[in-house]
Amino acid sequence: MNTFLQYNPTKLYFGKGQVEQLQQEIPENANVLLVYGGGSIKRNGVYDDVMKQLNDVDATVFELTGVEPNPRLTTVRKGVEICKREGIDFLLAVGGGSVIDCTKAIAVGATYEGDVWDLITQQAPIESALPFGTVLTLAATGSEMNPVSVITNWETNDKLGWSSPHAFPTFSVLDPEYTFSVPQDQTIYGIVDSMSHALEHYFHRTPNTPMIDGFIESLLRTAIETGPKLVENPQSYEYRETMMYISTTAFNETLKNGTDGGDWATHRIEHAVSAIYDIPHGGGLAILFPNWLHHVIEEDPSRVKQLATNVFGISAEGKSDEEVAREGAEALRAFWDSLGAPRTLGDYDITDEDFDSIVEKTLIKPGVGTYVEMNGERVLDILQRSL
Ligand code: NZQ
Ligand code: ZN
Repeated sequence: MNTFLQYNPTKLYFGKGQVEQLQQEIPENANVLLVYGGGSIKRNGVYDDVMKQLNDVDATVFELTGVEPNPRLTTVRKGVEICKREGIDFLLAVGGGSVIDCTKAIAVGATYEGDVWDLITQQAPIESALPFGTVLTLAATGSEMNPVSVITNWETNDKLGWSSPHAFPTFSVLDPEYTFSVPQDQTIYGIVDSMSHALEHYFHRTPNTPMIDGFIESLLRTAIETGPKLVENPQSYEYRETMMYISTTAFNETLKNGTDGGDWATHRIEHAVSAIYDIPHGGGLAILFPNWLHHVIEEDPSRVKQLATNVFGISAEGKSDEEVAREGAEALRAFWDSLGAPRTLGDYDITDEDFDSIVEKTLIKPGVGTYVEMNGERVLDILQRSL
Protein backbone atom coordinates (compact mmCIF):
# COMPACT_ATOMS: atom_id res chain seq x y z
CA MET A 1 0.00 0.00 0.00
CA ASN A 2 0.98 3.62 -0.42
CA THR A 3 0.93 6.11 2.43
CA PHE A 4 -2.40 7.89 2.53
CA LEU A 5 -4.43 10.48 4.34
CA GLN A 6 -8.08 9.75 4.99
CA TYR A 7 -9.94 13.01 5.41
CA ASN A 8 -13.64 13.54 4.94
CA PRO A 9 -15.36 16.20 7.00
CA THR A 10 -18.86 15.69 5.53
CA LYS A 11 -21.45 14.58 8.06
CA LEU A 12 -23.79 12.04 6.58
CA TYR A 13 -27.38 11.76 7.79
CA PHE A 14 -28.65 8.57 6.20
CA GLY A 15 -32.19 7.21 6.28
CA LYS A 16 -35.86 7.96 6.35
CA GLY A 17 -36.92 11.27 7.84
CA GLN A 18 -33.38 12.60 8.21
CA VAL A 19 -34.37 15.90 6.60
CA GLU A 20 -35.25 16.96 10.16
CA GLN A 21 -31.52 17.24 10.85
CA LEU A 22 -31.53 20.45 8.82
CA GLN A 23 -32.77 22.13 11.97
CA GLN A 24 -29.53 21.54 13.77
CA GLU A 25 -27.30 22.09 10.77
CA ILE A 26 -28.64 25.33 9.29
CA PRO A 27 -27.60 28.33 11.36
CA GLU A 28 -30.51 30.24 12.99
CA ASN A 29 -31.73 33.34 11.15
CA ALA A 30 -29.33 32.76 8.28
CA ASN A 31 -29.68 34.02 4.73
CA VAL A 32 -29.89 30.73 2.90
CA LEU A 33 -29.59 30.20 -0.85
CA LEU A 34 -31.63 27.15 -1.80
CA VAL A 35 -30.29 25.68 -5.05
CA TYR A 36 -32.30 23.20 -7.10
CA GLY A 37 -32.93 21.92 -10.61
CA GLY A 38 -35.80 21.80 -13.06
CA GLY A 39 -38.57 21.23 -10.52
CA SER A 40 -38.57 17.52 -9.62
CA ILE A 41 -38.32 18.53 -5.93
CA LYS A 42 -41.58 20.45 -6.19
CA ARG A 43 -43.38 17.47 -7.74
CA ASN A 44 -42.17 14.86 -5.25
CA GLY A 45 -42.65 16.87 -2.05
CA VAL A 46 -38.98 17.28 -1.11
CA TYR A 47 -39.20 21.05 -1.54
CA ASP A 48 -42.01 21.29 1.02
CA ASP A 49 -40.13 19.10 3.50
CA VAL A 50 -37.02 21.28 3.19
CA MET A 51 -38.92 24.57 3.40
CA LYS A 52 -40.62 23.43 6.59
CA GLN A 53 -37.23 22.91 8.23
CA LEU A 54 -35.89 26.22 6.95
CA ASN A 55 -38.91 28.06 8.30
CA ASP A 56 -38.42 26.42 11.67
CA VAL A 57 -34.91 27.91 11.95
CA ASP A 58 -36.19 31.31 10.75
CA ALA A 59 -34.03 31.28 7.66
CA THR A 60 -34.47 33.97 5.04
CA VAL A 61 -34.60 31.87 1.91
CA PHE A 62 -33.41 32.96 -1.54
CA GLU A 63 -33.74 30.54 -4.44
CA LEU A 64 -31.64 29.63 -7.45
CA THR A 65 -33.71 27.32 -9.59
CA GLY A 66 -33.26 25.67 -12.99
CA VAL A 67 -29.82 24.17 -12.52
CA GLU A 68 -29.32 22.08 -15.64
CA PRO A 69 -28.24 18.43 -15.78
CA ASN A 70 -24.54 18.96 -16.66
CA PRO A 71 -24.61 22.30 -14.81
CA ARG A 72 -23.56 25.39 -16.66
CA LEU A 73 -21.13 28.14 -15.79
CA THR A 74 -23.81 30.74 -16.58
CA THR A 75 -25.98 29.33 -13.78
CA VAL A 76 -23.04 29.23 -11.37
CA ARG A 77 -22.39 32.90 -12.10
CA LYS A 78 -26.06 33.71 -11.38
CA GLY A 79 -25.73 31.99 -8.00
CA VAL A 80 -22.50 33.80 -7.16
CA GLU A 81 -24.17 37.08 -7.94
CA ILE A 82 -27.12 36.33 -5.63
CA CYS A 83 -24.71 35.38 -2.82
CA LYS A 84 -22.77 38.62 -3.14
CA ARG A 85 -25.85 40.80 -3.53
CA GLU A 86 -27.93 39.28 -0.73
CA GLY A 87 -25.22 38.49 1.80
CA ILE A 88 -25.88 34.75 1.76
CA ASP A 89 -24.51 32.87 4.79
CA PHE A 90 -25.28 29.29 3.84
CA LEU A 91 -26.05 27.33 0.66
CA LEU A 92 -28.37 24.34 0.52
CA ALA A 93 -28.30 22.10 -2.56
CA VAL A 94 -31.41 19.95 -3.04
CA GLY A 95 -31.07 17.59 -5.98
CA GLY A 96 -28.71 15.27 -7.82
CA GLY A 97 -25.04 15.63 -8.71
CA SER A 98 -25.65 18.57 -11.03
CA VAL A 99 -27.32 20.71 -8.37
CA ILE A 100 -24.64 19.81 -5.83
CA ASP A 101 -21.77 20.49 -8.25
CA CYS A 102 -23.29 23.84 -9.17
CA THR A 103 -23.62 24.71 -5.47
CA LYS A 104 -19.98 23.84 -4.83
CA ALA A 105 -18.89 26.21 -7.57
CA ILE A 106 -21.18 28.95 -6.24
CA ALA A 107 -19.78 28.40 -2.73
CA VAL A 108 -16.18 29.00 -3.82
CA GLY A 109 -17.11 31.74 -6.28
CA ALA A 110 -19.03 33.70 -3.65
CA THR A 111 -15.91 34.42 -1.61
CA TYR A 112 -13.71 35.26 -4.61
CA GLU A 113 -13.50 38.70 -6.13
CA GLY A 114 -12.84 37.65 -9.73
CA ASP A 115 -14.77 35.37 -12.09
CA VAL A 116 -15.47 31.87 -10.74
CA TRP A 117 -14.17 30.31 -13.98
CA ASP A 118 -10.65 31.30 -12.84
CA LEU A 119 -11.09 28.92 -9.90
CA ILE A 120 -12.54 26.07 -11.93
CA THR A 121 -9.70 26.31 -14.45
CA GLN A 122 -7.16 26.59 -11.61
CA GLN A 123 -5.89 29.93 -12.84
CA ALA A 124 -6.46 31.22 -9.31
CA PRO A 125 -6.20 29.26 -6.05
CA ILE A 126 -9.35 28.40 -4.10
CA GLU A 127 -8.78 29.87 -0.67
CA SER A 128 -12.23 29.82 0.91
CA ALA A 129 -15.90 29.04 0.38
CA LEU A 130 -19.29 29.68 1.88
CA PRO A 131 -20.50 26.71 3.93
CA PHE A 132 -23.04 24.47 2.22
CA GLY A 133 -25.03 21.31 2.81
CA THR A 134 -26.96 18.99 0.53
CA VAL A 135 -30.20 17.03 0.42
CA LEU A 136 -29.58 14.30 -2.13
CA THR A 137 -32.37 13.19 -4.48
CA LEU A 138 -30.49 10.97 -6.95
CA ALA A 139 -28.01 8.20 -6.19
CA ALA A 140 -25.18 8.44 -8.71
CA THR A 141 -22.22 10.76 -8.46
CA GLY A 142 -21.06 10.71 -4.85
CA SER A 143 -20.85 14.51 -4.97
CA GLU A 144 -22.74 14.60 -1.66
CA MET A 145 -19.65 13.37 0.17
CA ASN A 146 -16.69 14.40 -1.95
CA PRO A 147 -14.86 17.62 -2.84
CA VAL A 148 -15.36 17.26 -6.63
CA SER A 149 -17.50 19.30 -9.00
CA VAL A 150 -17.94 19.27 -12.77
CA ILE A 151 -19.02 22.43 -14.61
CA THR A 152 -19.68 23.04 -18.31
CA ASN A 153 -18.76 26.25 -20.09
CA TRP A 154 -20.81 26.37 -23.29
CA GLU A 155 -18.90 29.37 -24.60
CA THR A 156 -15.76 27.27 -24.90
CA ASN A 157 -17.32 23.77 -24.97
CA ASP A 158 -15.39 22.73 -21.89
CA LYS A 159 -16.72 20.37 -19.23
CA LEU A 160 -14.18 20.57 -16.44
CA GLY A 161 -13.83 18.64 -13.21
CA TRP A 162 -12.20 20.44 -10.29
CA SER A 163 -11.82 19.77 -6.60
CA SER A 164 -10.80 21.56 -3.43
CA PRO A 165 -10.82 20.79 0.29
CA HIS A 166 -13.22 23.76 0.50
CA ALA A 167 -15.74 21.88 -1.66
CA PHE A 168 -16.73 19.19 0.83
CA PRO A 169 -20.35 19.64 1.92
CA THR A 170 -20.66 20.37 5.65
CA PHE A 171 -23.39 17.72 5.79
CA SER A 172 -25.56 15.67 3.47
CA VAL A 173 -29.02 14.27 4.06
CA LEU A 174 -29.62 10.97 2.28
CA ASP A 175 -33.20 9.77 2.50
CA PRO A 176 -33.76 6.85 0.11
CA GLU A 177 -37.46 7.79 -0.15
CA TYR A 178 -36.39 10.99 -1.89
CA THR A 179 -35.13 8.86 -4.77
CA PHE A 180 -38.42 6.94 -5.32
CA SER A 181 -39.41 9.38 -8.07
CA VAL A 182 -36.14 9.14 -10.03
CA PRO A 183 -37.17 8.02 -13.53
CA GLN A 184 -35.99 4.70 -14.91
CA ASP A 185 -33.32 6.11 -17.23
CA GLN A 186 -31.72 8.19 -14.48
CA THR A 187 -31.88 5.23 -12.10
CA ILE A 188 -29.94 3.17 -14.64
CA TYR A 189 -27.40 5.95 -15.25
CA GLY A 190 -26.90 6.17 -11.49
CA ILE A 191 -26.13 2.46 -11.24
CA VAL A 192 -23.67 2.69 -14.14
CA ASP A 193 -21.99 5.82 -12.76
CA SER A 194 -21.57 4.31 -9.29
CA MET A 195 -20.17 1.09 -10.72
CA SER A 196 -17.82 3.07 -12.98
CA HIS A 197 -16.47 4.98 -10.00
CA ALA A 198 -15.78 1.70 -8.20
CA LEU A 199 -14.23 0.21 -11.33
CA GLU A 200 -12.01 3.18 -12.03
CA HIS A 201 -10.67 2.98 -8.48
CA TYR A 202 -10.08 -0.75 -9.05
CA PHE A 203 -7.66 -0.21 -11.96
CA HIS A 204 -4.65 0.83 -9.93
CA ARG A 205 -1.20 -0.67 -9.92
CA THR A 206 -0.36 -0.54 -6.21
CA PRO A 207 0.69 -3.90 -4.72
CA ASN A 208 -0.75 -5.46 -1.56
CA THR A 209 -4.19 -3.85 -1.42
CA PRO A 210 -6.38 -6.87 -0.63
CA MET A 211 -8.68 -4.97 1.73
CA ILE A 212 -9.55 -2.16 -0.69
CA ASP A 213 -9.75 -4.53 -3.68
CA GLY A 214 -12.12 -6.80 -1.76
CA PHE A 215 -14.18 -3.81 -0.67
CA ILE A 216 -14.57 -2.67 -4.29
CA GLU A 217 -15.42 -6.17 -5.47
CA SER A 218 -18.06 -6.49 -2.76
CA LEU A 219 -19.54 -3.12 -3.72
CA LEU A 220 -19.70 -4.21 -7.37
CA ARG A 221 -21.30 -7.57 -6.56
CA THR A 222 -23.91 -5.78 -4.47
CA ALA A 223 -24.64 -3.33 -7.30
CA ILE A 224 -25.01 -6.24 -9.73
CA GLU A 225 -27.39 -7.99 -7.37
CA THR A 226 -29.42 -4.91 -6.49
CA GLY A 227 -29.46 -2.95 -9.77
CA PRO A 228 -31.87 -5.15 -11.75
CA LYS A 229 -34.23 -5.52 -8.78
CA LEU A 230 -34.28 -1.76 -8.33
CA VAL A 231 -35.04 -1.12 -12.01
CA GLU A 232 -37.97 -3.56 -11.65
CA ASN A 233 -39.12 -2.12 -8.29
CA PRO A 234 -38.33 1.60 -8.22
CA GLN A 235 -40.48 2.11 -5.10
CA SER A 236 -38.56 -0.39 -3.01
CA TYR A 237 -37.03 1.31 0.03
CA GLU A 238 -34.53 -1.53 0.47
CA TYR A 239 -33.17 -1.41 -3.06
CA ARG A 240 -33.09 2.39 -3.06
CA GLU A 241 -31.19 2.51 0.24
CA THR A 242 -28.68 -0.08 -0.95
CA MET A 243 -27.99 1.83 -4.17
CA MET A 244 -27.79 5.12 -2.32
CA TYR A 245 -25.14 3.82 0.04
CA ILE A 246 -23.27 2.22 -2.87
CA SER A 247 -23.18 5.43 -4.88
CA THR A 248 -21.93 7.53 -1.97
CA THR A 249 -19.27 5.03 -0.99
CA ALA A 250 -18.11 4.53 -4.58
CA PHE A 251 -16.83 8.10 -4.73
CA ASN A 252 -16.27 9.48 -1.24
CA GLU A 253 -12.52 8.86 -1.49
CA THR A 254 -12.55 5.73 0.68
CA LEU A 255 -11.84 3.48 -2.27
CA LYS A 256 -8.52 5.11 -3.04
CA ASN A 257 -7.05 4.57 0.42
CA GLY A 258 -3.55 3.17 0.00
CA THR A 259 -3.65 2.94 -3.79
CA ASP A 260 -2.41 5.18 -6.59
CA GLY A 261 -6.02 6.35 -7.03
CA GLY A 262 -6.96 4.24 -10.04
CA ASP A 263 -7.48 5.12 -13.68
CA TRP A 264 -10.09 7.72 -14.58
CA ALA A 265 -9.52 7.89 -18.32
CA THR A 266 -13.10 6.90 -19.16
CA HIS A 267 -14.42 9.79 -17.10
CA ARG A 268 -12.13 12.16 -18.95
CA ILE A 269 -13.34 10.89 -22.32
CA GLU A 270 -16.98 11.03 -21.20
CA HIS A 271 -16.64 14.62 -20.01
CA ALA A 272 -15.13 15.53 -23.39
CA VAL A 273 -18.08 13.89 -25.19
CA SER A 274 -20.59 15.63 -22.87
CA ALA A 275 -18.87 18.98 -23.44
CA ILE A 276 -19.96 18.82 -27.06
CA TYR A 277 -23.15 16.73 -26.94
CA ASP A 278 -24.65 17.35 -23.46
CA ILE A 279 -25.50 13.67 -22.92
CA PRO A 280 -26.24 12.13 -19.50
CA HIS A 281 -22.99 11.26 -17.75
CA GLY A 282 -23.92 7.67 -16.79
CA GLY A 283 -25.16 6.98 -20.31
CA GLY A 284 -21.82 8.06 -21.76
CA LEU A 285 -19.91 5.86 -19.33
CA ALA A 286 -22.01 2.80 -20.20
CA ILE A 287 -20.96 3.22 -23.83
CA LEU A 288 -17.29 4.03 -23.31
CA PHE A 289 -16.14 1.94 -20.35
CA PRO A 290 -16.31 -1.54 -21.95
CA ASN A 291 -14.35 -0.21 -24.93
CA TRP A 292 -11.70 1.23 -22.63
CA LEU A 293 -11.45 -2.23 -21.04
CA HIS A 294 -10.37 -3.59 -24.41
CA HIS A 295 -7.16 -1.50 -24.13
CA VAL A 296 -6.63 -2.60 -20.55
CA ILE A 297 -6.79 -6.25 -21.59
CA GLU A 298 -4.31 -5.67 -24.42
CA GLU A 299 -1.89 -3.97 -22.05
CA ASP A 300 -2.24 -6.31 -19.05
CA PRO A 301 -5.26 -8.64 -18.61
CA SER A 302 -4.51 -9.62 -14.99
CA ARG A 303 -6.74 -7.07 -13.33
CA VAL A 304 -9.72 -7.68 -15.62
CA LYS A 305 -9.23 -11.38 -14.99
CA GLN A 306 -9.49 -10.72 -11.24
CA LEU A 307 -12.65 -8.71 -11.86
CA ALA A 308 -14.07 -11.52 -14.00
CA THR A 309 -13.48 -14.20 -11.38
CA ASN A 310 -14.16 -12.26 -8.16
CA VAL A 311 -17.11 -10.17 -9.34
CA PHE A 312 -18.72 -12.07 -12.20
CA GLY A 313 -17.87 -15.57 -10.96
CA ILE A 314 -16.26 -16.60 -14.25
CA SER A 315 -14.20 -19.77 -14.04
CA ALA A 316 -10.55 -19.45 -15.07
CA GLU A 317 -10.04 -23.17 -15.50
CA GLY A 318 -8.23 -24.16 -18.68
CA LYS A 319 -8.33 -20.59 -20.03
CA SER A 320 -5.65 -18.00 -20.68
CA ASP A 321 -5.69 -14.80 -18.63
CA GLU A 322 -6.79 -12.93 -21.71
CA GLU A 323 -9.72 -15.27 -22.35
CA VAL A 324 -10.99 -14.89 -18.80
CA ALA A 325 -10.54 -11.12 -18.98
CA ARG A 326 -12.48 -10.92 -22.26
CA GLU A 327 -15.31 -12.93 -20.72
CA GLY A 328 -15.29 -10.49 -17.80
CA ALA A 329 -15.52 -7.46 -20.09
CA GLU A 330 -18.38 -9.11 -21.97
CA ALA A 331 -20.16 -9.88 -18.69
CA LEU A 332 -20.01 -6.21 -17.70
CA ARG A 333 -21.34 -5.13 -21.10
CA ALA A 334 -24.12 -7.74 -20.88
CA PHE A 335 -25.04 -6.59 -17.37
CA TRP A 336 -25.41 -2.95 -18.38
CA ASP A 337 -27.32 -4.03 -21.51
CA SER A 338 -29.69 -6.04 -19.34
CA LEU A 339 -30.45 -2.91 -17.29
CA GLY A 340 -31.27 -1.01 -20.48
CA ALA A 341 -28.23 1.29 -20.51
CA PRO A 342 -27.15 2.79 -23.84
CA ARG A 343 -24.62 0.82 -25.84
CA THR A 344 -23.33 3.00 -28.63
CA LEU A 345 -22.76 6.68 -29.32
CA GLY A 346 -25.36 6.22 -32.04
CA ASP A 347 -27.93 5.85 -29.24
CA TYR A 348 -27.39 9.61 -28.76
CA ASP A 349 -27.10 10.28 -32.53
CA ILE A 350 -23.40 10.94 -32.18
CA THR A 351 -21.28 10.24 -35.27
CA ASP A 352 -17.52 10.46 -35.76
CA GLU A 353 -17.85 14.07 -36.93
CA ASP A 354 -16.32 15.61 -33.76
CA PHE A 355 -13.96 12.83 -32.77
CA ASP A 356 -10.84 14.94 -33.32
CA SER A 357 -12.15 17.59 -31.03
CA ILE A 358 -13.19 15.01 -28.38
CA VAL A 359 -9.68 13.52 -28.47
CA GLU A 360 -8.15 16.97 -28.09
CA LYS A 361 -10.42 17.85 -25.15
CA THR A 362 -9.74 14.53 -23.43
CA LEU A 363 -5.99 15.07 -23.57
CA ILE A 364 -6.04 18.79 -22.79
CA LYS A 365 -4.49 18.15 -19.37
CA PRO A 366 -1.54 15.71 -19.26
CA GLY A 367 -1.51 12.36 -17.49
CA VAL A 368 -4.77 10.83 -18.71
CA GLY A 369 -4.78 7.16 -17.74
CA THR A 370 -2.52 5.56 -15.17
CA TYR A 371 -3.24 1.85 -15.67
CA VAL A 372 -3.18 2.41 -19.43
CA GLU A 373 -1.68 5.68 -20.54
CA MET A 374 -3.92 7.37 -23.05
CA ASN A 375 -2.72 8.96 -26.27
CA GLY A 376 -4.61 10.31 -29.26
CA GLU A 377 -4.63 6.98 -31.07
CA ARG A 378 -6.07 5.09 -28.11
CA VAL A 379 -8.77 7.64 -27.34
CA LEU A 380 -9.76 7.66 -31.00
CA ASP A 381 -9.90 3.86 -31.05
CA ILE A 382 -12.16 3.83 -27.96
CA LEU A 383 -14.48 6.33 -29.65
CA GLN A 384 -14.54 4.32 -32.88
CA ARG A 385 -15.35 1.12 -31.03
CA SER A 386 -18.18 3.04 -29.33
CA LEU A 387 -19.90 4.02 -32.59
O1 NZQ B 1 -33.42 19.06 -12.42
P1 NZQ B 1 -34.40 18.21 -11.69
O2 NZQ B 1 -35.80 18.63 -11.89
O3 NZQ B 1 -34.05 18.03 -10.27
O4 NZQ B 1 -34.35 16.75 -12.40
C1 NZQ B 1 -33.19 15.94 -12.37
C2 NZQ B 1 -32.47 15.89 -13.72
O5 NZQ B 1 -33.36 16.09 -14.77
C3 NZQ B 1 -33.64 14.52 -12.21
N1 NZQ B 1 -33.85 14.15 -10.80
C4 NZQ B 1 -32.97 14.25 -9.76
N2 NZQ B 1 -33.53 13.75 -8.65
C5 NZQ B 1 -34.78 13.37 -8.98
C6 NZQ B 1 -35.00 13.62 -10.34
N3 NZQ B 1 -36.16 13.36 -10.97
C7 NZQ B 1 -37.14 12.83 -10.23
N4 NZQ B 1 -37.02 12.54 -8.92
C8 NZQ B 1 -35.86 12.80 -8.26
N5 NZQ B 1 -35.74 12.47 -6.97
O6 NZQ B 1 -32.60 13.73 -12.76
C9 NZQ B 1 -32.00 14.45 -13.81
C10 NZQ B 1 -30.50 14.30 -13.74
O7 NZQ B 1 -30.00 14.92 -12.58
P2 NZQ B 1 -28.42 15.18 -12.41
O8 NZQ B 1 -28.22 15.87 -11.14
O9 NZQ B 1 -27.89 15.82 -13.66
O10 NZQ B 1 -27.83 13.69 -12.38
P3 NZQ B 1 -26.54 13.13 -11.68
O11 NZQ B 1 -26.71 13.04 -10.23
O12 NZQ B 1 -26.20 11.91 -12.42
O13 NZQ B 1 -25.41 14.25 -11.95
C11 NZQ B 1 -24.74 14.32 -13.18
C12 NZQ B 1 -23.68 15.41 -13.16
O14 NZQ B 1 -22.66 15.14 -12.16
C13 NZQ B 1 -21.36 15.10 -12.77
C14 NZQ B 1 -21.68 14.65 -14.17
O15 NZQ B 1 -20.63 14.88 -15.08
C15 NZQ B 1 -22.92 15.47 -14.48
O16 NZQ B 1 -22.57 16.80 -14.80
N6 NZQ B 1 -20.47 14.27 -11.98
C16 NZQ B 1 -20.10 14.74 -10.78
C17 NZQ B 1 -19.23 14.06 -9.96
C18 NZQ B 1 -18.83 14.59 -8.64
N7 NZQ B 1 -19.15 15.81 -8.31
O17 NZQ B 1 -18.18 13.90 -7.87
C19 NZQ B 1 -18.62 12.80 -10.36
C20 NZQ B 1 -19.28 12.15 -11.52
O18 NZQ B 1 -18.36 11.29 -12.11
C21 NZQ B 1 -19.85 13.09 -12.54
O19 NZQ B 1 -18.89 13.49 -13.49
ZN1 ZN C 1 -19.05 9.58 -12.79
